[in-house]
Amino acid sequence: MKAGEKFVLGSIGVLLLFGLIRSTMHVKQEHERDIPYYSTAPQDVAARATEIYRVNGCKECHSLWTMKDMMESVPAPILDGIGSLRTEAWLYDYLSSADPQSILKSRLKKEYRMPSYASLPEQDRRVLAQYLASLKVKDWYLEQTRKAEYEKLTGLEYKK
Ligand code: HEC
Repeated sequence: MKAGEKFVLGSIGVLLLFGLIRSTMHVKQEHERDIPYYSTAPQDVAARATEIYRVNGCKECHSLWTMKDMMESVPAPILDGIGSLRTEAWLYDYLSSADPQSILKSRLKKEYRMPSYASLPEQDRRVLAQYLASLKVKDWYLEQTRKAEYEKLTGLEYKK
């Protein structure tokens, strides 16, 4: 191979490498702007569930759609992306349990713990579970979501 050819090939190689690095940086920047949370629920389910959510004061303790609870005093898990961590069946059973702490142990004082919603009409619990299960997080943010949940639930540092 002549020196000239080597130079041309080498230059192409360097250009390709820079292109690759730039495109991965670009992807990362795009993700930083992107909201990683979305819902797959039909409009009527979302509307009904949002109403049940409001009436039952869930937002006193939880944040959803990155809206923080007013006081931020209760360290309850963020519900954005919860449907990527829990199944609809699990969520329904949890909401229906007379003793939610028998399903998910609490580290908190009694007044801060997840209350039982067993007395809600079954239909409401179903819609709520369906909606919560529809709250997904995009793959690139899943690990972050898992970490945040783990740290809220246990108060411990998350290790992979
Ligand atoms: C008094 C504060 C409070 C209220 C009100 C409340 N929660 Fe919770 N919730 C918690 C806490 C704290 C936890 C974590 C478990 C525990 O400590 O009992 C939790 C856990 C959960 C979980 C499980 C989260 C996970 O990481 O798996 C879901 C789902 C949930 N709540 C949904 C709701 C919904 C829906 C409502 C309203 C119908 C609601 N919560 C009302 C405090 C609350």
